[in-house]
Amino acid sequence: MKRLIFIALISLSTGANVLAQSLTNISINTIKPVAPIQSTMWGVFFEDINFAADGGIYAELVKNRSFEFLDPWMGWDIKLKSDRDVSFTIINRGTGNPRFARIKINNDTSGFSLINEGFRGMGIKSGENYSFSILAALQTDQPQKIRVELMDSLTSISSAEITIDKKGWSKYNVSLKAGSTVQKAQLKISFLQKAITDIDMVSVFPENTWKKRPGGLRNDLVQLLADMKPGFVRFPGGCIVEGRDLNNRYQWKKTVGDINDRELIINRWNTEFAHRSTPDYFQSFGLGFYEYFLLSEDLGAEPLPIINCGMACQFNTSELVTLDQLDPYIQDALDLIEFANGTINTKWGKLRADMGHPAPFNLKMLGVGNEQWGPQYMERYEAFAKVLKVKYPDIKLVSSVGPFAGGDLFNYLNPLLRDMNADLLDEHYYMSPDFFQRNAKRYDNYDRSSSKIFAGEYAAHVRDTEGQGRSIWMAALSEAAFMTGLERNAEVVTMCSYAPLFAHVDAWQWAPNLIWFDNLRSYGTASYQVQKLFSLNKGTEVLSATYKGAPIAGEDSLYVSAVRDQNTKELIVKIVNTSSAIKQSQLSFSGKVKGSYKALVAWMEGDLKATNSLNQSQVLSPKTKEINFKPGSTFIEFPPHSVSVIKVKI
Ligand code: AHR
Repeated sequence: MKRLIFIALISLSTGANVLAQSLTNISINTIKPVAPIQSTMWGVFFEDINFAADGGIYAELVKNRSFEFLDPWMGWDIKLKSDRDVSFTIINRGTGNPRFARIKINNDTSGFSLINEGFRGMGIKSGENYSFSILAALQTDQPQKIRVELMDSLTSISSAEITIDKKGWSKYNVSLKAGSTVQKAQLKISFLQKAITDIDMVSVFPENTWKKRPGGLRNDLVQLLADMKPGFVRFPGGCIVEGRDLNNRYQWKKTVGDINDRELIINRWNTEFAHRSTPDYFQSFGLGFYEYFLLSEDLGAEPLPIINCGMACQFNTSELVTLDQLDPYIQDALDLIEFANGTINTKWGKLRADMGHPAPFNLKMLGVGNEQWGPQYMERYEAFAKVLKVKYPDIKLVSSVGPFAGGDLFNYLNPLLRDMNADLLDEHYYMSPDFFQRNAKRYDNYDRSSSKIFAGEYAAHVRDTEGQGRSIWMAALSEAAFMTGLERNAEVVTMCSYAPLFAHVDAWQWAPNLIWFDNLRSYGTASYQVQKLFSLNKGTEVLSATYKGAPIAGEDSLYVSAVRDQNTKELIVKIVNTSSAIKQSQLSFSGKVKGSYKALVAWMEGDLKATNSLNQSQVLSPKTKEINFKPGSTFIEFPPHSVSVIKVKI
């Protein structure tokens, strides 16, 4: 006799679509977890590329504030009535911040002004306060009065006056309240009296920075990071660690201490891509290592600094220090650990305390080199590891396995590092969406007892679009499919970060990126929403999720991973449907499961070409709904091209 089966059906789908019965039963073993999930599982990768630091998260609005760019007047426009009335020079005193400007005004009505254009303009918000400051030293007995204005083209939207009356270098401040909102404002400084004045470190910061810290970080951008609850922050890159040559490498010691003394260098992305050249891209290091540690702490994330290992970028000069000259580089690593963790009685621990943080930052990991390859890297990595592992055996070292997670460079380093029992191997993949879908099983057969994996830089790249247009749903959907594989293998993959993180819409060099911004606004791309969905639902233990006993990683276009969270007592299942059809599946739980469960479902779906944007930032963002379902009985529908996260209290 034919049995009638009643199928309860819950639909997450919003449109009329082709319906396809799928893997009928996704079976979750809720009794025996496979492995713990590290708190570091989903983190962020910060690099000063695309104006991410200066002009981005570092909220300084004045570009070239200390006249240190190659052209000392870059970013500054000089307006004067007659050059007989005024002379201005750049003086070099030869220290870390060597240059300053000397302004000589010959009569009280000269009408001389300096105008700073900001980083593609200055974003100013009506009603908000902006803190103007300047270092100045009078060279004459007569004081100098300056008028400071925020300008919307030719209109002043805020104005104040300061009298410079001290002969030694002194800091002068004034608060400016903005009368209107302007996307591309400028700063105008007019010198009103006859005097000779030296000026340096001309600065405007919003007072409403992250945690209201003076000279701090841009609130909206840090908030987007905080919303992700990242497990770690990797900084300061990326290739910026390596430099185009060794002179241009990132040297953390030059980024700490008094910001007035931090030595500016050219940003390596200034000239990297001819088609996206940014001649005004420099690193002021206002955002330096102390600030990176503080940011990590604010976000509740583990800091992961990456340090230069005596090798410049191998895509550029490949400059190397010889092995007998490597000690200062290793010493930089040792000193960095002392800066982060040392007591205030140590040299570098004291500097941290003097900067405002007596408590240690509790550094647990350090990266040695970025995308290095070849025997040159092995030799240098070994030299670092030999010293660091003796002095700081508990600090985990992140090592490069080259710029690609496959091919000759990878195949050379990978076994050697595993033989050494290296702690964490930093794999990078900027590949097609198709690669991400095909590689969801990449880690299923990795040796569980060998080195752990840091998926340190990844993003699905579509080739037929540019800039913000690259952050389409197809890319994010494919990343999500791949990420189920990262999560399923949390036993070996302990850290993951999408890259790069930030990009200014008017000043980017690389795309796609996770977060785009202009001078006033910011938004998370579809990939950001996916990262956030995984990070906020990371759980504490991986569970096995199978169909007919095997992991689901592309079978019938579905990708599944499951975790449980011992803190919230939740079972969390992530299901990615990459096909253009609705899929229906039951979830069944092992053990004695009776009755119905309430579940909260968050899901994202969209057109494969859809994107978020500054004007429409939530086109691709999770919707939520509560469902009642019976494990092993109710069919749940997964919309075409969707990522779903089902959370059940257990
Ligand atoms: O994320 C952009 C760049 O990509 C990084 O600087 C580098 O590590 C990689 O090649």
